[in-house]
Amino acid sequence: MPQTHLPDTGSSEAGLFGSGLFDAGLSNPGPSDAASANAAIETLRAAAQEFLELFYAENPQAGSLKDRLAEVLREIDLTGTYWHTPEELTFGARVAWRNNKRCIGRLYWRSLKVRDLRLVSDAGGVARHCFDHLRAAHNGGKIRPMISVFAPETPSRPAPRIWNEQLIRYAGYEQPNGRVLGDPRYRAFTGKLMQRGWRPPERPSAFDVLPLVVETAEEGPRMFQLPAQAVHEVPLEHPELPWFADLGLRWHAVPVISNNRLIIGGISYPAAPFNGWYMGTEIGARNLADTDRYDLVPEVATRMRLDTSHEATLWRDQALVEINRAVLHSFEAHGVTVTDHHTESRRFLTHLQREERAGRSCPADWSWIVPPMSGSQTPVFHRYYDTTTQTPAFLTDPEATTRSLHGGPPAFPAVRVDLGAPGSTQG
Ligand code: ARG
Repeated sequence: MPQTHLPDTGSSEAGLFGSGLFDAGLSNPGPSDAASANAAIETLRAAAQEFLELFYAENPQAGSLKDRLAEVLREIDLTGTYWHTPEELTFGARVAWRNNKRCIGRLYWRSLKVRDLRLVSDAGGVARHCFDHLRAAHNGGKIRPMISVFAPETPSRPAPRIWNEQLIRYAGYEQPNGRVLGDPRYRAFTGKLMQRGWRPPERPSAFDVLPLVVETAEEGPRMFQLPAQAVHEVPLEHPELPWFADLGLRWHAVPVISNNRLIIGGISYPAAPFNGWYMGTEIGARNLADTDRYDLVPEVATRMRLDTSHEATLWRDQALVEINRAVLHSFEAHGVTVTDHHTESRRFLTHLQREERAGRSCPADWSWIVPPMSGSQTPVFHRYYDTTTQTPAFLTDPEATTRSLHGGPPAFPAVRVDLGAPGSTQG
């Protein structure tokens, strides 16, 4: 499910889906909030109905909508929320992928493996299952699209949050000369985690894996170092340019987005990390090439001895192609699933046709679907798309974006200090 083109700026759509019901976290609604609580319940009832109608329309073997809908509405009246069946959860997560306008890789949306971890809500449990997710999704190189769905937001208990943008990301260390060692995207995040007590390796490198930060209302934010077996990486080499390997570049094999909120039928799952496999340009034309990321194009051009004295030699374009060839070559050589932007563009149009044949319109955002290099060489460039937002959906809350880039502020008010705690009252 490659998401490729633009930096994540957060979604302005958040308000359309969150019922707003539980987002206040720990606060106890007073009588003045009664009207808005009622409105939120109405919104939830409507969202549940809309989702169940979709579920039964697309899963005729599942039985009768009528009974299940009555049951869910009763549950909402009694508890202010409802619990998806495992089948609803699986379908909902797959359709959230199908509806993701930024993803070119949706042809295989039905193959998404859904791990039902809704009973896991403590930070240590979330972290452990995230590490299992990384191992299971890597699958010895044959990457499996997968999502782990942790505890939902409920009126009695706020859901856990994962701060990181992805389960595996590289630290960015600000250096005295103002430059950044590592990934500049995570410069602020890295700094905050160090303030919180994270110690980088003794000799920091450009590819140090950041710790996972899991926040719960009870425990506050907690950091977890990723175990080595959970982190699979591909060292980058070029099929013809021997010096390329000397650059010491690498990238992680599995992109697991971990700061998006999954919304199904009005129920919100803020911790639901998911992955597909990489499209090479995500790494070669963005992560390693953007000037505010690893910015490798000038160095590669110099090593290639290109004429960089003026833009019209197209040295940038030439260097970019070789970086991307190195990425695809290295992933393939290491037996890790990867795809190129030409193949993936064709697959996306196949997906679009299939969706239309199924009587659905496939929402898509041109600026994300068109690959970040050689756009006009791919068929996805030469047309427009339906841009309607549909649910179930993955959303990026602005606060989640802020946490993943700036390392805070926390989602929940500071964990209350027990007055009887040692040292607080006695002497
Ligand atoms: N573009 C992001 C990255 O470079 C990953 C987004 C998801 N991509 C994917 N193929 N599922 O890490």
